This record gives sequence, C-alpha cells and structure tokens, in this order.
Amino acid sequence: MRFHWQRILTVCASLAITLIGQRCPTADAQSAELAPTPPMGWNSWNHFATKVTAADVRAAADAMVASGMKDAGYVYVNVDDSWEGKRDSHGNIHSNSKFPDMKALGEYVHAKGLKFGIYSSPGPKTCAGYEGSYGYEQQDANTYASWGVDFLKYDLCSYMDIMKLHDPRQDPQQALRMMQAAYKKMHEALLNTHRPIVYSLCQYGVGAVWEWGPEVGGNMWRTTDDIRDHYRSMALIGFSQAGLERFAGPGHWNDPDMLEIGNGGMTADQYRTHMSLWAILAAPLIAGNDLSKIDQTTKSILMNKEVIAIDQDKLGIQGSRIAPPQIWMKPLSDGSKAVALFNYVIDDEAEPLTLKFKDVGFGGAVRVRDLWAHKDLGVLHDSYTVTVPQGGVVMLRIWQQPSETGALPANHPAAN
Ligand code: GAL
Repeated sequence: MRFHWQRILTVCASLAITLIGQRCPTADAQSAELAPTPPMGWNSWNHFATKVTAADVRAAADAMVASGMKDAGYVYVNVDDSWEGKRDSHGNIHSNSKFPDMKALGEYVHAKGLKFGIYSSPGPKTCAGYEGSYGYEQQDANTYASWGVDFLKYDLCSYMDIMKLHDPRQDPQQALRMMQAAYKKMHEALLNTHRPIVYSLCQYGVGAVWEWGPEVGGNMWRTTDDIRDHYRSMALIGFSQAGLERFAGPGHWNDPDMLEIGNGGMTADQYRTHMSLWAILAAPLIAGNDLSKIDQTTKSILMNKEVIAIDQDKLGIQGSRIAPPQIWMKPLSDGSKAVALFNYVIDDEAEPLTLKFKDVGFGGAVRVRDLWAHKDLGVLHDSYTVTVPQGGVVMLRIWQQPSETGALPANHPAAN
C-alpha cells in the first residue's frame, strides 16, 4: 500500500507542472487516514434485509441525527444488498424501483453531515441474487463515485462460482489468488475514481483474510460468517476473535460483523455484552437496528460515549482475553486500560467475577470507573470483585493511581 501511494504521488508530482488542472489522488481513497479508528455508522441489512427502500434509508439518516447517534460518532449510512437494478446497454448499473434516485439519496445523506455507503459483489450476482460487479468493476466504481458513495461493502457471494468455474479442482491456493485478485481489482477501481471510499471486504474470513486484507486495499474485513440476533451467535463470533489482535490497527480493522443491538433478539444485558465486546475488539460499530424506532435502552447502549471512546481510542489496539473465563483488556492511549468482565454462560446465575489488577499490568493503587454504571469506584488495591448478570458484562476503565493521596491521576478525564 505504502509503496503504491508513494508511486502515485511521485508520478503526480512530476506531472503536476505539465498537467495543470489534472486531479492527483490525495492520500485518501482507502488509505489509513480514511479509517484511523474503526468506522462507525448504520447498515440496512440486519433489520430491513431485502425489504429496504430509499425511504427507510432517509429515515435512518434523519434518526441518526435526531437520536444523537451522529453526535455520538456514527457517520456512515450504508445501503446493503437489494438496491441493484439492471444494467443499461452501455453496461451502467441502475438502482431498482425501491431506490428511484441514488444520487439524490447520497445528497440527502450528505446534507445531514453524514456519509453514504453502498454494497456490491465481485461476482455476477450478489448474495440476494441482484446484479454484482463482475466484469464491470471500474464502471461501477465510477458510478458509485458519481453518486457520492463514501463506503463500499464488497461481498464475495457468487464469485465463489467463478472460482469453481476457473478452477474445477478447487485448489485452495488458486482459490486464494483469485479471491485476492478480485478484491484488489475493485480496490484499484476505487482508487482510480480519486474519491475516498472506505473499502469493506466481506468474504466471511475465508483464507485468513486478516493476513492479506491490507494488501488488497481493505480498510476492514469480515472475520466470520453472518451474525444473527441471538446471544449464542453474537457470543460465538465475538469471543472467537481472540488471536486476531495483531492484524487490526489504524486504517485496517477486523470486522466481526454489524451490530444487532436494538433488534429484539437479546436482553439488554446481552446487548451490553455485544457493545462492550465490539468496543474491546476495536471493531467497526455499524448499527443494524431500525433507528427510526430506537428506544431508550437501545440508545443508552449504542450511545454510551464512555464505551464508544474505548472502541475509538486512537492507539487502535484490538483488545485480548487476559484471564479465564472471559476477562478482556484493551490498552488505551492515555495509559489507562479498559477491562470487560463477561459472565458469558447464559445458563449460569449472576456470578461474582474477580479482576486482579496485576493481570492487567497494574501494581499498587488504581483508580477505577464503571463504564455502564457511569460511576467512579474510587481508589482500589489488588483486586475488584463484582457480580455480573448472566450473559452480561461489567466494563471498567482503570488508571494507575500515582499516590495514596486520592488525587486523580493526571490522565484521568476528571483531572483537568
Ligand atoms: C451476506 C453478508 C450479509 C449481507 C447479505 C446480503 O453474505 O454477509 O452481511 O450483506 O450477504 O445479501
């Protein structure tokens, strides 16, 4: 990537004198600066699936502002599968009757100070059977750019059939090379538009995408199969991210799929687990509920700014499991640490869990804040024991306390 940009910028610089007026790509499209922290927004799939209409997307953009989601940091409004219509005789893709005017929709989203996202596939068909980008990559990228698109989710789907067609023996190495080439092709097409477009790879983690996602231009990549609005699905996906930490960082994130918070299939405690785990994982926070009908509990979960701050911390370190059964920790840029204690077995009763501060690298006195209770717990020593509801979580932020005086550590938010 870096080499690629250097090359482009060098070429642009040398041509600048002779090609006055020619637009050089600034270091933007799919660069690390485009997703310095995990992208935040909303996507139509988890709630609306193939029923989504332009009116639903406009309502989501309205609600994003009115509900406070925008102020909390959510910015992308993403249309998932089922917007696609047919191609015309020139090969240009058009939206279907549910989306009468994509450019106008993009403008509507932008007028709210939000960004506009879209979905396609490297295959001839998307997963829901609509028109994919196979053979039309550059043309589609140009169309998206002309519609003001800022985010593309690119979903493998029927490209798997192309892989089988070209390699009936299904040699895994050959399949990997074809998949990488397909993702890179759209990456280059997006770069050629000179528009900054977050590139979200969706191929369910096949072929250890986290190892090559940045090379094909991905700003984020799905690490698993689809999430469902059930605790077991969410917990299985979330807790299985252990081990992928080193592949995430500013500009390129592991994506354990979009949020189900507010869709009704989990309890509030379980949704707090969902939000806390995704924040500890530095995962993209892409809400998937009907924002126009968001209730207070859902708001308090999706818009917990103290938890969002953990996800969005500028160090961009994906947290890891540091003690059994499910105690997770994420180091933060001010030297403090976020710790989540999950009572993940739903058949168990609420149970006391103990965090030993030495397990997260702190000795002596520490200052602790509970991020769901929004409460300072004061200066503590050695360990903290707390009862965690079943399927629920207690999420803490912990600072090393400089002395026994009770004075706030200099990096504590309330110290300044
Ligand atoms: C799946 C994808 C989902 C959604 C769906 C649309 O492959 O994982 O997130 O995009 O396709 O058809």
